[in-house]
This record gives sequence, structure tokens and C-alpha cells, in this order.
Amino acid sequence: MFFASDNGSGVAPAILAAMTRANDGYARGYGADDAMVRVRDEIRRLFEAPDAAVYLVATGTAANALAIATYCPPWGAVFCHTTAHIAEDECGAPEFFSGGAKLILVDGPHGKIDPEAMALALEKTGSGGVHGVQRGMLSITTVTETGTVYTPAEITALTTLARAQNLPCHLDGARFANALVVCGATPAEMTWKAGIDVVSFGGTKNGCMGVEAVIIFDPAKAWEFELRRKRAGHLFSKHRYLSAQMEGYLADGLWLQLARNANLMGARLATGLAQIDHVSLVHPVHANMLFPEWAIGTHARAEAAGAVYYPFPAPKGRERARLVASWSTTEADVDALLAVLRG
Ligand SMILES: Cc1ncc(COP(=O)(O)O)c(C=O)c1O
Repeated sequence: MFFASDNGSGVAPAILAAMTRANDGYARGYGADDAMVRVRDEIRRLFEAPDAAVYLVATGTAANALAIATYCPPWGAVFCHTTAHIAEDECGAPEFFSGGAKLILVDGPHGKIDPEAMALALEKTGSGGVHGVQRGMLSITTVTETGTVYTPAEITALTTLARAQNLPCHLDGARFANALVVCGATPAEMTWKAGIDVVSFGGTKNGCMGVEAVIIFDPAKAWEFELRRKRAGHLFSKHRYLSAQMEGYLADGLWLQLARNANLMGARLATGLAQIDHVSLVHPVHANMLFPEWAIGTHARAEAAGAVYYPFPAPKGRERARLVASWSTTEADVDALLAVLRG
């Protein structure tokens, strides 16, 4: 009953096998390995973006912070949701790597930026001349931090506002595969066709050991990103192990298969929770992350039974939790937790 995070699951066997194969013999370092050529080609094919620059890093924070630094000047504002991972959970890395860009938090229901609030934030920013930060870029996340997924049309609505001001747009796709299989779009439709310039394409939370791709659709930005990655200490010398993970992840649609299982287990959990009287869901469940609210005493019962998850702040007299299913969550895991919650 491990539902604390999808990074609590292990490495998918096929990915581990790809790493073991990569362990044979020798390979050039620093991203010059043959597997990286194949990974780049495969990502370009999947995203229908033959000129895209593709780089690997080992953490989502590095992917986001370096992508943002490449696109936002130090005096720029990054518009993002109030709950965005870049705002709440990256210890100021985007601000640090960009040399001081300011995050401007824009609200909206269930983790998605509200276009009207975004238009207002754009209007209010940069109008004071030299004294204020200037409009810099947009950063959105899908799957969002509250477990919802933007449709390509919703992404386009936000990027259209940003692009009207000549602002580039970043997508934090730490759970890109989980979002993609929900909205039924192609990778291109969810990104550059919807106005996205740069993507953090997650692998770690969906069965890899630790690898994320940064996909930059304008190759003119590639060299700057390379320099920033090196300077940040994120150019791996034994890079072949990053490449091998990503190659194994993408082979034969494994990335989509793993995400489908995580989402399916999320849906099973949601269906079961809906049948328990004292439980309600704080946000709609689109993918593999759930935010239930339930009666006082449930945490103690679940903890005693061995369930692992994060409690969340709740209104008086209630308890809230975040539950995350992963590629390796089984029906038995879900059913065991539901049985405990039923009491
Ligand atoms: C939406 C989102 N973006 C980025 C990250 C950052 O990943 P990492 O912990 O690998 O730096 C996370 C991790 O929780 C995340 O949930």
C-alpha cells in the first residue's frame, strides 16, 4: 500500500535490462554515446520535430530550471500556477539558474492556470517601465500538481495569450506520459502544435531510475542549453546510463504502457473511494494522483495497517491525503487500501 509518490516505485525491468546491456564494453562520455543518437532520433520522431534539440538530465528540477534559464532573462517574470512544482518544490532553482527571474503565481481551479487570471497577470506585469520585472515566459505543468490534465485546447488558450506578448512557453511534463494517454493527443499536439517551445519530458516517475529529457523545438537555443547544463553540473560523464534508460523507456511504447497502468490504478482507487460514505475527492481524478478527504481517524487506521502516503492540510474536522499510483501499483495494492479506508 505504497501511495506516497510514483518515484517510490522501482525501475521497470525492461529499463533495468537496457542499462545492463549498456554496461557492456565502452562508450564515449558526455552525451556522445551512440545510444544518445538513437534517443534523439526517437524523440524527434515521436514529437514530429525533426530539428528538435534533445538533452538528458537526471532530475526534473534540473530539466525545469535549465529550460527556464534558457528562455527567461534575469529580469523576466515566469508566469506559473500557484501550486507549480517550480514555485513550491524546487528550492528556488529556476530563479537561481535564470539569474533571478521572478515567478509570478497565477491561480486557477484544480491546478490549471485560469486564462482570465493569466491575461490579468500579463497586463499587470512589466507596465512600470524599468522599475519592474518584464514579462518573461509561461510555464505550465501537466499532469498538474493537483492531478488534473490540460487538454491541448486548454494549453493553446494559455500559450496564445503568452505568444501575443512574444513570450516563450515551457511545459513541465514530469508526468508527460500520464497526461498524454489521458488526453488522447499526440506528443506534437500536446506540445509544439499547442504553442509549447520547450518540454521537460519525465522518465523518473514512470519507471526510469533517474532521467528526464529536455526537448527544445527551436534548435537555435540548443547551444545555450548545452552550456547551461554543463555549468550546472548536469552534463553526465557516464552519460550512456541516462541514454540507456531513455532508450529502454521509449522502446515498444513502454512509456505509454507504464503510464496506462498508473492511471488505471488511479481510476480504480477513485471508483472505490467514491463508494465510501465518509470520503470525497477534492480534485477531479484525471490520471494517477488523487486528493481524497475523509473522516478524522482514517489516517491513524491507514497508518496502522501499513499504508504509506502524504497527509495534506485539511479543513477542521476532516483529513486530507495525496495518493499517487505508479507503473508498478497492482489491483491488490489498491483493493487493500480501499478495504482499510472502508474501516
Ligand atoms: C510536476 C513535477 N515537476 C518536477 C518535479 C521535479 O523532479 P525531481 O524531484 O526529479 O527534481 C516533480 C517531482 O516531484 C514534479 O512532481
